[in-house]
Amino acid sequence: MHDDELEVGDAPGRDEVLTAADVADGPIPVHVACVMDGNGRWAARRGLPRTEGHAAGEAALLDAVEGALELGIPWITMYAFSTENWRRPPEEVRYLMGFNESLLMRRRDELNEKGVRIRFAGRRDWRVPKRVLKRMDESIELTKGNRRCTLTMAFNYGGRAEIVDAVRELVRDGVKPEKVTEKAIRSHLYFPDQPDPDLVIRTSGEHRISNFLLWQLAYSELVFTEVLWPDFRRSDLFAGVRDFQRRQRRYGGVT
Ligand code: IPE
Ligand code: IPE
Ligand code: MG
Repeated sequence: MHDDELEVGDAPGRDEVLTAADVADGPIPVHVACVMDGNGRWAARRGLPRTEGHAAGEAALLDAVEGALELGIPWITMYAFSTENWRRPPEEVRYLMGFNESLLMRRRDELNEKGVRIRFAGRRDWRVPKRVLKRMDESIELTKGNRRCTLTMAFNYGGRAEIVDAVRELVRDGVKPEKVTEKAIRSHLYFPDQPDPDLVIRTSGEHRISNFLLWQLAYSELVFTEVLWPDFRRSDLFAGVRDFQRRQRRYGGVT
């Protein structure tokens, strides 16, 4: 069947369409993190260039945020560009930089009006164009007073790089070996105030972490869906939350 013939809600890989009411009675995760994957394959299936898949991912991102707001999830983190994504062809990297910049320009006011605080986790190194950094700073500044939900965009983000950066700071501060504790490392992560993700959702049928939040995911519940990111909608977020509600978290203990 061609995708055009699919009914609303029938994204390939989606079992059913859920609403917030379907999960609202159970425990709601405090922090949900998403690996927004499958844009290239979504485009390839339509005979389009990979960049069209990234463009189509914007609607998915916004709808996922709407869903999080509906459920009252206070922290969401979205993996937008990894420290390894620089390995992609230069045209795609260039596109992604420009796309993220224009997405912020197009969407920051709307997110701000909804009470979303925007932040960025990742390295601000020389490879990130200045104008992108400028839009990031403007978005942070514009939304810094919002508390309804914090949206962290993981951009030029790597879990290993984050740990390296934390250790570098500890060394720079002259912290003695016996003072290097889990708490000390945590306090030097990019956002020490942020609770660890309760739930991580990865789209596109890949079952891996790809260097996302390595420290913070120690006890997160992982949900994998076949849905490709551009097809992802709040219903898929709710499905992830329902999976989460069926899990039993033990943190190494017994129940
Ligand atoms: C995710 O989609 C977006 C980024 C990594 C920036 P991909 O571009 O990885 O899409 P696939 O995995 O190749 O289908
Ligand atoms: C992870 O997806 C990074 C983002 C979604 C931004 P990738 O597509 O880069 O991951 P791999 O290469 O398949 O592991
Ligand atoms: Mg991918």
